[in-house]
Amino acid sequence: MSFHLQPTSPARPNRCQLFGPGSRTALFEKMAMSDADVINLDLEDSVAPDDKAQARTNIIQATHDVDWNSKYLSVRINGLDTPYWYRDVVDLIEKSSERLDQIMIPKVGNASDIYAVDALVTAAEVAMQRKKKVSFEIIIESAAGIANVNEIAAASPRLQAISLGAADFAASMGMQTTGIGGTQENYYMLQGGDHHWSDPWHWAQAKIVAAARTHGVLPVDGPFGDFSDDDGYRAQARRSATLGMVGKWAIHPKQIALANEVFTPSEDQVTEAREILSAMEDAKMNGEGATVYKGRLVDIASIKQAEVIVKQFEMING
Ligand code: COA
Ligand code: MG
Repeated sequence: MSFHLQPTSPARPNRCQLFGPGSRTALFEKMAMSDADVINLDLEDSVAPDDKAQARTNIIQATHDVDWNSKYLSVRINGLDTPYWYRDVVDLIEKSSERLDQIMIPKVGNASDIYAVDALVTAAEVAMQRKKKVSFEIIIESAAGIANVNEIAAASPRLQAISLGAADFAASMGMQTTGIGGTQENYYMLQGGDHHWSDPWHWAQAKIVAAARTHGVLPVDGPFGDFSDDDGYRAQARRSATLGMVGKWAIHPKQIALANEVFTPSEDQVTEAREILSAMEDAKMNGEGATVYKGRLVDIASIKQAEVIVKQFEMING
């Protein structure tokens, strides 16, 4: 470890973030009753311009009326390039109940975007004498966002999570695809005439994970558009989990169980991690820094890897 220790990320489950448009109030109770860890009520792209004001009122009302139980309650505001965002922030902080946990800022392009929202939120919170400081989560979904992700991850102590937003990201990058995440037909390698599909989202995900982990922020995988394709969702989520992401969005309720399944360490994984920790305990007693577990090397780094899995499991079940 360098002299600068890696900060720990917020210790709350974030396996699935369930989205619903702020204009569809009939969904709110269903969202509250779901098995998602995080609820994202949307004011941005799932709400038509004419419905923005009503959606804002609906969401504020729902912070007072709906029993959100133990859910982490987040509201996605409009982007800083729109005329809506300042009213979203001011009304949310002035009129929401203290049940509001988090504001999600979309299309963040640099640290100043977060600075601007932070300044407005802070002034409104102090003026309203709110007890709880809301946290932030942001979406990386532009070329500028991914280019500046390191400074973005460090921009505010309020920041708790960073998601990759595949659709806007693809558009901003000029990628030739209309799919929201997942396998892209034209992104393949050829070997002996056979096609091998690789993952065009991989580099952006890895960059987000590195920036987020450096600053103690949770890296999250965003939407998977084809909600009829369970296997495609699972495959994307498993790749994200392998890279260090802690969860994934659900844009339809049927994706919640898939996310929870992938981002909850399995019993086999936990058993193996505990066995590695115990093998390393034995090694330590014998004055050894490395040993053999099931025919492979385990050493001090393996302790840290095993602890990631055990800690994640204990946090979710504790
Ligand atoms: N949260 C909770 N429940 C939801 C839901 C959601 N986001 N979306 C649908 N449901 C409910 C429906 O009300 C229906 O309930 P019922 O069985 O009691 O009637 C059930 O799940 C099945 O819904 P279905 O008919 O398959 O979907 P739909 O046509 O009503 O809605 C979408 C489909 C995609 C439009 C809707 O899921 C949606 O708006 N998703 C979120 C979009 C969003 O927020 N995007 C922004 C982030 S990318
Ligand atoms: Mg978007």
